[in-house]
Amino acid sequence: MNSDAFTYRRGKLHAEGVSIESLVRRLGTPLYVYSQSAFERGLRTIQGGLSSLESFTVCYALKANSNLAIVKMMGDLGAGADLVSGGELERARMAGIPPDRVVFSGVGKTAEEIAAGLAYGGRGITSFHVESLEELGLIDRVARARRGKRARVALRFNPNIDAKTHPYISTGLKKNKFGLNADELRAAVSMLPRLKGIELCGLSIHIGSQLTSLSPLRTAFKALGSQILAVEAALGRPLEFADLGGGVGIRYRDERPPALEDYCSEIVRAFGPKSAFRSRLRILLEPGRVLSGNSGILVARVLFRKPRKQKDFLILDAGMNDLMRPALYGSYHELVPVLEARARGRKKKTDVVGPVCESGDCFASDRPVPTSLEHGDLVAFLGAGAYGMSMSSNYNSRPRPAEVLVSGGRWRMIRDRERIEDLVRGEHP
Ligand code: LLP
Repeated sequence: MNSDAFTYRRGKLHAEGVSIESLVRRLGTPLYVYSQSAFERGLRTIQGGLSSLESFTVCYALKANSNLAIVKMMGDLGAGADLVSGGELERARMAGIPPDRVVFSGVGKTAEEIAAGLAYGGRGITSFHVESLEELGLIDRVARARRGKRARVALRFNPNIDAKTHPYISTGLKKNKFGLNADELRAAVSMLPRLKGIELCGLSIHIGSQLTSLSPLRTAFKALGSQILAVEAALGRPLEFADLGGGVGIRYRDERPPALEDYCSEIVRAFGPKSAFRSRLRILLEPGRVLSGNSGILVARVLFRKPRKQKDFLILDAGMNDLMRPALYGSYHELVPVLEARARGRKKKTDVVGPVCESGDCFASDRPVPTSLEHGDLVAFLGAGAYGMSMSSNYNSRPRPAEVLVSGGRWRMIRDRERIEDLVRGEHP
């Protein structure tokens, strides 16, 4: 398995020291289960790897998994927050993330969201990462309307680099909607003298997600470094920070993602004490998946098996509304039985599907699955901690799963299972 937080003990799947079967007996299925130590380990590895930098902050990308307990846990360990909406901003606030550790990315910020960012924690967030010239103008207007308040911003540079990942999650190509190209960057800098509500503090990049090679990142860091020097020359003063985005991939199947230590070395090489920048810039990162992905699983129960000649259908009580990555990206999540013994024996080509009325509601197609898995058995999808619950929906009026956080031999419910009352709240029959 791809995470040592989820292992078999005495033949039964455990999250750290807690048996999945026992959790399901109490809480039912589908159920998201997270390992606290897995989250912590990732964050501490990055923090340790960057310790030679003068100043840095790991801004956890809330979009990957925004449960308040998770965000608070990361904040307590020194992480900040990378946000993309007013909703995420509220979550960061509720989790007590200090303003000097909050950055706000995204191509479509509204005036209300900008105002909320300026008001955050009294002094406002560390940076709005600006993605268009029009947005820069809007931030300026909103800031000026707040009587002399200046908005701290970074310009998000789109370096036109192929991150070599799934097209849906590639963001650093010129055909993508994200960031400013080099011409727009120059134009933004030349607008600054007229924008009294703007304080340009840094530059940012984010070229894509689930990157399995460091080389596009290395190229991007270099391109960012040159832009920083160019912007500083135009401004006649140094910038305060560089935000290097997120994007480091994880192992879902047989990928060979970079080790976090190597990723950090790459950053230190580009911006650390021995680089041309001599560690004078504060470095911000926006990792999401690499912290949360293999820190969570989705547990489901087998409802039925529909035997067919070519391949069987294994029908679960979890659907694409609970974990939509396979349906949306054709992505792979390893499926393991909760009882280890069920993994043995004959396997047959199987489509593992959910109950949602869409043919696309399929977690795995043509997957060799043990024929011994039958009605009532529990299974778990691995690598479900990132972009699992946070992308879930109520399609087909399905209440979303409960979430549990395990630490050692203890567990804590961090989100109740939704009820139908939750789904119809605000509707007017
Ligand atoms: N920063 C920015 C500006 C981003 O757009 C993203 C992800 C991140 C940070 C975090 O990236 P990470 O470290 O998690 O790779 N739903 C897709 C992933 C979408 C990623 C969008 N942006 C999936 O399930 O694979």
